[in-house]
Amino acid sequence: MTEPLLSIHHISKTFPMARNFRDVVTRSPRQTLRALRDVSLTVRPGEVVGVVGESGCGKSTLGRCIAGLETPEHGDMLWQGAPISAGENRRTRARHIQMVFQDPYASLNPRMTLGQTLEEVLRVHGLAGDAARRRERVDELMLMVGLAPALKERLPHTISGGQRQRICIARALAAEPQLIVADEPVSALDASVQAQIINLLEDLRAKLNIALIFIAHDLNVVRHISDRVAVMYLGEIVETAAAEALFTRPLHPYTRGLLAAIPIPDPKRRTSVPSVEGEIPDPLSPPIGCGFSTRCSHVIHPCRVRHPDLHQTGEHGVRCLNPAATRPFADPGSVYPATGNQ
Ligand SMILES: Nc1ncnc2c1ncn2[C@@H]1O[C@H](COP(=O)(O)OP(=O)(O)O)[C@@H](O)[C@H]1O
Ligand SMILES: [Mg+2]
Repeated sequence: MTEPLLSIHHISKTFPMARNFRDVVTRSPRQTLRALRDVSLTVRPGEVVGVVGESGCGKSTLGRCIAGLETPEHGDMLWQGAPISAGENRRTRARHIQMVFQDPYASLNPRMTLGQTLEEVLRVHGLAGDAARRRERVDELMLMVGLAPALKERLPHTISGGQRQRICIARALAAEPQLIVADEPVSALDASVQAQIINLLEDLRAKLNIALIFIAHDLNVVRHISDRVAVMYLGEIVETAAAEALFTRPLHPYTRGLLAAIPIPDPKRRTSVPSVEGEIPDPLSPPIGCGFSTRCSHVIHPCRVRHPDLHQTGEHGVRCLNPAATRPFADPGSVYPATGNQ
């Protein structure tokens, strides 16, 4: 098996919460919000890892830690086997790990033409030599993401949302990265445009062998593009497996619930597993035991008092204390079709 490009071991990240007036008056201690708890993940060269979970579960914080925009308090992050925080490695990361964000408009400078945006990246990283070569490279990058080079004279507000996301992808590619962290790159786009952007990312991975961490709140979005999937809940990875295994033999009740929420047009193939109901607990006062215990239909006594470890069988990891819940196909209705609607 190839050596991982990126490996993350047990990282945690908390945010101190601002004190409000009442906290000051009642002299309550400053609260901290645990955004990431004991997260481990590896990404191999050219691999696509999908990261999914409901809003607020820590997906962006994980992406930002990987891209160096946040620093985890605990745990290690290795880039090609060497600690990422070391001087030289930090600079390598700035070029080799690029991010693509959900809102392409907010992440582009409104006063710079698309061409200038791309050229700037080439200049910052000292790529593509003199001015003439840089202009040539800008045209190449535009073509790689399916845009006519003539568009390079335009400003971001004059093109469509899908075209803007293509430019953000071209900007990431300009740095010649080995890993792109795409944080909900299609959530702000229309359904038809979503599929085009996912296809583009898939093509680029195939052509350039760039690894991709694809963050989404919807499992369906990462279904076909991912080699592996990590499902997050309240700052933790609750299940991780090869995509095929996760979609056909999901083990965690949360993953099963998320899959059950994906509409399947054929009634014969629908499942009897209920989708996840109820609200995510307040991240400032998470449950003592399993984070999912307040919403889980398989909850047993230990779940409310003991925190589950990630139990690994081969490549399939699951964080659940109820052996009956995680038995493959515990529920005869929980057989998921290999392909759902897209
Ligand atoms: N800079 C920050 N300061 C305080 N809390 C934050 C900050 N960034 C994220 N959070 C909190 O951390 C948790 C995880 O957030 P985030 O990583 O954005 O989740 P997701 O991307 O899955 O929606 C949320 O409860 C969020 O409110
Ligand atoms: Mg987010």
